[in-house]
Amino acid sequence: MKTVVVTGGNRGIGRAVARELITRGCRVVLHARDRARGERALEELRGAGPGEVTLVTGDLSTKRGIRETADAILAACPRIDVLIHNAGLWPSERILNEDGLEMAFVVNHLAPFMLNHLLEARLVESRSRVVQVSAGLYVKGRPDLEKTPTGEDFQPLGTYPTTKLCNLLLVPRFAARWKERGPTILALHPGVIRTGLGDRKGMLGRLLRVVKRLWKSPEEGARPVVRLALDPALDGVTGRYYHLDVETELLPIARDEALAAKLWSQAEKLSEVLEAG
Ligand SMILES: NC(=O)c1ccc[n+]([C@@H]2O[C@H](COP(=O)([O-])OP(=O)(O)OC[C@H]3O[C@@H](n4cnc5c(N)ncnc54)[C@H](OP(=O)(O)O)[C@@H]3O)[C@@H](O)[C@H]2O)c1
Repeated sequence: MKTVVVTGGNRGIGRAVARELITRGCRVVLHARDRARGERALEELRGAGPGEVTLVTGDLSTKRGIRETADAILAACPRIDVLIHNAGLWPSERILNEDGLEMAFVVNHLAPFMLNHLLEARLVESRSRVVQVSAGLYVKGRPDLEKTPTGEDFQPLGTYPTTKLCNLLLVPRFAARWKERGPTILALHPGVIRTGLGDRKGMLGRLLRVVKRLWKSPEEGARPVVRLALDPALDGVTGRYYHLDVETELLPIARDEALAAKLWSQAEKLSEVLEAG
């Protein structure tokens, strides 16, 4: 039975991914920020199929919470066949966490970076596949290394794509780091999906809710994620980006190696993750 960790698994695409994985007989370790919301999701998901589901909790918007999450995952998973970085945040305003960092920068970019490091030994032992749920909107990202971490360049529409781009820029670097060590990493855009992502109050929020009725269901968003997680044809394939099921070359902005190198060393400093070698 494959063990698959799904971050942000209590709603939206993550919950639909968890359901499909249970249907296919996986042991899902469902991560949720909030225990009560996680328990509710578990109640809904139990019995969805022959697989199993257990809960781990942790807040991915602070360094402390990310470390707690990593510890909880390690305690729950003697092996990790697949790690799906799905949790994501599209905030409408600049909010700083207890570390003085902007929330979307942490949840979308720093958290996967830190989890990849904190779980690295287990990922290597398990020869895991890591799936990074990215977003086609990365093309709109404009990172400013000085301002983005603390949200001084915060924009309600611009910060989400920027933080997703920061995250995506580091995928090839993890692929290269793990090349001879076992783990692989793949990223994808899951489609434009009707979930709570980016929900907000006021006129814009009401308009968005109307527009979202036309978007695809979470189940449709889950399908390409589950494919990347389980397809045996992708064994050994690493560092690639998929638009839904189609392998797609990233635009130059996401292949800027100099920018990626700067983001990597910045993330190391910000997260205080020790270089494991
Ligand atoms: N929906 C789309 O059209 C679309 C398009 C492209 C890419 N994506 C990507 O798909 C992924 C899933 O998004 P979704 O649309 O399913 O969004 P969603 O319904 O808003 O779900 C987001 C998930 O992330 C979790 N999360 C947010 N902040 C967190 C934190 N501080 N700590 C831990 N977990 C946190 C949420 O937990 P809570 O319930 O506790 O808030 C929730 O489980 C994201 O990475 C997103 O960028 C979505």
